[in-house]
Amino acid sequence: MGKFEQIKGFIFDLDGVIANTSVYHAKAWHQLADKVGVSWTTDLANQLKGVGRMDSLNLILKSGNKENDYSDEQKASLAEEKNDNYLQLLKSLDKSEILPGMEKFIEDLSAHNYLISLASSSKNSPRVLEALDLNKYFDARVDPATLKHGKPDPEIYVRGAQVLNLKPEECIGLEDAVAGITSINGAGEISVGIGDPEILNEADINFKDTSEVTLENIESAMKRKLNV
Ligand code: BG6
Ligand code: MG
Repeated sequence: MGKFEQIKGFIFDLDGVIANTSVYHAKAWHQLADKVGVSWTTDLANQLKGVGRMDSLNLILKSGNKENDYSDEQKASLAEEKNDNYLQLLKSLDKSEILPGMEKFIEDLSAHNYLISLASSSKNSPRVLEALDLNKYFDARVDPATLKHGKPDPEIYVRGAQVLNLKPEECIGLEDAVAGITSINGAGEISVGIGDPEILNEADINFKDTSEVTLENIESAMKRKLNV
């Protein structure tokens, strides 16, 4: 892990890091799992976190040994149904759904002239950022529709640094999902895991919730880790 002084940019996941929307994704997938007769477990919910729409559907079907039961066309319509369920749940989305401390943290980064990009797998991320009135803080965004591979592949976090014209070692990525931490680590950036440290045990730094995520806490966690 490099030094805190080297850091010039922060790359954010959205759902479950900035916005309280991962619970809505989970709810909508749970509805879909019920529909196709696959049991919903905490383990399945954790596997889906951060993973793109089609990959998520495939994981659900696989967990119920149903991966060969649907044609591509039927799968596309199931994924669309999940998205409709999700959009219903987003209808009342507003600033109250920004996770504790995150607007202040992003504001602080901006005030300290760090560059900020978005590395969300969600095709709904522009809509969510808009509803939360946070677009203004982002210097760049990775469009998940342009990716060859979704999280846990490193591609989205590699691009998250490129769109800021930064090297990976100059960036910190923030994630609530195992797939996201794997992606950040594979990209050669510093990973900050937000959530259960036993689940996010591959992260360079852990915080149990967003209220602990501050520049000061990141700096001291990195210094502690490097013993400086
Ligand atoms: C991620 C969420 O940010 O985006 C996943 O953590 C979701 O739960 C994925 O499946 C894709 O989102 P969307 O909105 O494009 O279906
Ligand atoms: Mg997330």
